[in-house]
Amino acid sequence: MAQYIIALDQGTTSSRAIIFDKKGSIISVGQKEHEQIMPRAGWVEHDPIEIRDNMREVIGIALGRANITRHDIAAIGITNQRETAVVWDKNTGEPVYNAIVWQDTRTQPIVDRLAGDEGIERFKDIVGLPLATYFSGTKIVWILENVEGAREKAEAGDLIFGTTDTWVLWNLTGGPDGGVHATDVTNASRTLFMDLKTLSWREDILAEFGVPLSMLPEIRSSSEVYGVARDASLLRETPIAGILGDQQAATFGQAAFDAGESKNTYGTGCFLIFQTGTDIVKSENGLLTTVGYKLGDEPAHYALEGSIAVAGSLIQWLRDQLGIISSAPEAEELAKKVEDNGGVYFVPAFSGLFAPYWRPDARGTIVGLTRYSNRNHIARAALEATAFQTREVLDAVNADSGVDLTELKVDGGMIANDTLMQFQADILGVPVVRPVVAETTALGAAYAAGLAVGFWNDLDELRANWQEDKRWTPNDDVAERERQLRLWKKAVTKSMGWVD
Ligand code: G3P
Repeated sequence: MAQYIIALDQGTTSSRAIIFDKKGSIISVGQKEHEQIMPRAGWVEHDPIEIRDNMREVIGIALGRANITRHDIAAIGITNQRETAVVWDKNTGEPVYNAIVWQDTRTQPIVDRLAGDEGIERFKDIVGLPLATYFSGTKIVWILENVEGAREKAEAGDLIFGTTDTWVLWNLTGGPDGGVHATDVTNASRTLFMDLKTLSWREDILAEFGVPLSMLPEIRSSSEVYGVARDASLLRETPIAGILGDQQAATFGQAAFDAGESKNTYGTGCFLIFQTGTDIVKSENGLLTTVGYKLGDEPAHYALEGSIAVAGSLIQWLRDQLGIISSAPEAEELAKKVEDNGGVYFVPAFSGLFAPYWRPDARGTIVGLTRYSNRNHIARAALEATAFQTREVLDAVNADSGVDLTELKVDGGMIANDTLMQFQADILGVPVVRPVVAETTALGAAYAAGLAVGFWNDLDELRANWQEDKRWTPNDDVAERERQLRLWKKAVTKSMGWVD
């Protein structure tokens, strides 16, 4: 009997393959970054072929490092950056354009056109989302309207769309030679096209967008066998049995399965998910309603989500664009050299502001500068921005749910940053808790796959795997917390209105 599950995590900056054992412990990891293509201000693209090839390579690396073969793997789980859109020719497997990444804001004119007089919330009751550049739907429209010949080919049934879970699945299962064109409910819930109640595509909304139904993948649950690998990777004949968008996967990997349970992931962006059970809860405070997970034929579980576009990517920006640090950990070193932010606030509205504001006209803003300010203050303000944004999202969750969260489970790359996590606890006023296995995104996808093939029996078995590693307790200086929050909110108002 195979002893492992492999999770394929197709993220914003890299693709990874992680092998887990039954306890949810990591056996080995393969990882490869891909290029961030930024042809113009506001545009962010990835090369889907690079991603496909990297995924094959990291599978080989992970298997090699663990010194095992496909015969030791019971199933494959896929997790992914969620709204990034790929459109390709199903006969050749060639993408017609680069993947348009979730952070890309080029589709704002399409959003404005679709919003018309009814506004950005016109489909929100059905799909749980406001109209925004973030979601995959408007990215497909852009490709159909701007890539020569794309519309004709799409209408002839030759082009298909997928988020990167679908792109990985289709390629793994044979590509043009019988590849499975499917996605799961969590990824489908990020397109603007899926009815949250029926979990099926809305033909009326597709017609408004001008997107042919034939382009869309079949919507399946998050945990079932979609097909078996048939491509050139080393996983031939292994069942692919789990798909979860990365934020939902992290929630699953944190064993936050029930209504009232939540997590916050500090990755490229920062995403807080709060499970609402089988109820579809409408947000009155700028959160999204999304699908949390669906296991096989069981009913779907829903969630509220606070999406923050820029978190870890701000630290990358300090390194790659501003050049004030040479590695990400250096941001913490600089931040620690000063006692506080020296009055500097940094609102990283690089893709406009997502939750809870949804303001496409916002742009990155640094306020409070004096002659005294230096790069340490800027690094500190950059780190603190993530904590302030999380506080605002948490306030929205508390307001929507009517109950105050008493602690926050965290994961993602930035939780290695002790200064940030302590500040996060201080600014929230509740403890922040990190699990032993912090790779919760990959773990969640592994769990979904393992449940489908009987590698794990039930959610209780997964819950038993969760263990606390570290807890940051907040200080009790409420007045200081409120003062900083007030200044942060003032800084946010300064970031708005920067687009003519
Ligand atoms: O919604 C975007 C999200 O899925 C991307 O996550 O971890 O790649 O920043 P991440």
